[in-house]
Amino acid sequence: MVVALGISGGIAAYKACEIIRGLDKAGVEVQTILSRGGARFITPLTLQTLSRNTVLSDRTGPGDGGAVRHIDLTRRIDVFAVAPATANFLAKFARGIADDFLSTFYISVTAPVVVAPAMNSRMWDHPATRENLAILKARGTRSLEPESGWLAEQEQGVGRLADPERIVQAILEEAEISSLLANLHVVVTAGPTREPLDPVRFRSNRSSGRMGFSLASAAARRGARVTLITGPVGLHTPRGVRRIDVESSAEMRKAVLESRADADAVIMAAAVSDYIPPRSEGKIKKGAAEIDLRLSRGPDILMELGQSRGSEILIGFAAETENLLDNARDKLARKNLDFIVANDISVPGIGMEAGENEVTILDREGNTHPVPRAPKEQIAGRILDHVFRGRSR
Ligand code: C5P
Repeated sequence: MVVALGISGGIAAYKACEIIRGLDKAGVEVQTILSRGGARFITPLTLQTLSRNTVLSDRTGPGDGGAVRHIDLTRRIDVFAVAPATANFLAKFARGIADDFLSTFYISVTAPVVVAPAMNSRMWDHPATRENLAILKARGTRSLEPESGWLAEQEQGVGRLADPERIVQAILEEAEISSLLANLHVVVTAGPTREPLDPVRFRSNRSSGRMGFSLASAAARRGARVTLITGPVGLHTPRGVRRIDVESSAEMRKAVLESRADADAVIMAAAVSDYIPPRSEGKIKKGAAEIDLRLSRGPDILMELGQSRGSEILIGFAAETENLLDNARDKLARKNLDFIVANDISVPGIGMEAGENEVTILDREGNTHPVPRAPKEQIAGRILDHVFRGRSR
């Protein structure tokens, strides 16, 4: 295992020595990257000696392969950790500023990122720092929050670097998580579908797409190859995910059937329209006081997958307003699924178009597994960890 360890400029930089030793003891190859500020607190020679490796920094010139080497290294590493991470580096990472070696390295990395901020408590409490950290977390970065204690400025407060042992543990965990689903192809659907009435109007369902996007992101973070098939939503494509945009349920069906050929799992989190209006070629004129719309049943994509199953795991969602578990159980059997994720959409603040969810996972054997209320990103991780328990390759 290879870990790139960034060290930025703060008094806690000396604690990087303990992190390197901890990683070294665990058999990890450590490649340190020292920022200019970091180099004012700790010498490259110390890091080189402890890591038994060269130290990368702004001074790594083209002669040492500097420019190419950072890209080369991004391909080799399992985790990129920055400890201590100063307010300045959190800001650079959040905004993608790449004006030195460490920040340029961040923007080139696809491996999981762990940051351990350390700074004075006033800097830690500043809205700018909070916002930057929120951006990084939303991107999947793991943050080890600083601890409270006696700071270098001779005052009490939150800002002290997290315990180096905890940092080592978090780095090792991230590396392990990142290969849980290696070699698996996971297909995820997300968002609503739009069924056109005419060239300007459509029928649709409530769905932000956030649950499906979180699942895609969590699967990619666990090392899976991910295909995300999504209806129209306003979300950024998670890193490392192949995205296919569709509009109607017919388009979604086609994309799912094409992608399932070599899929190990299909997770249908999309809110697919069940009833489809007739489509008028020209715009329907406003004139009549009433118009009749006769809706017809559209494709039930998941049912179709269940009827023609291969060896892939099939996971559906059941959004219900009443008899949640009974209806979900019925759906699981009728659609011939392996798992169904039931969520009660009558509870305010969770489910459709909300940031949080609370679900129960049901399986074919009749087991129920409750997942308590949490942000959808966390729920996604729990669903994957439950579904793929003991199944990774
Ligand atoms: O039957 P119901 O719509 O409640 O089933 C929900 C599950 O089936 C979800 O996983 C949803 O993505 C999937 N579904 C589908 N095609 C439809 C309707 C729902 O694949 N037309």
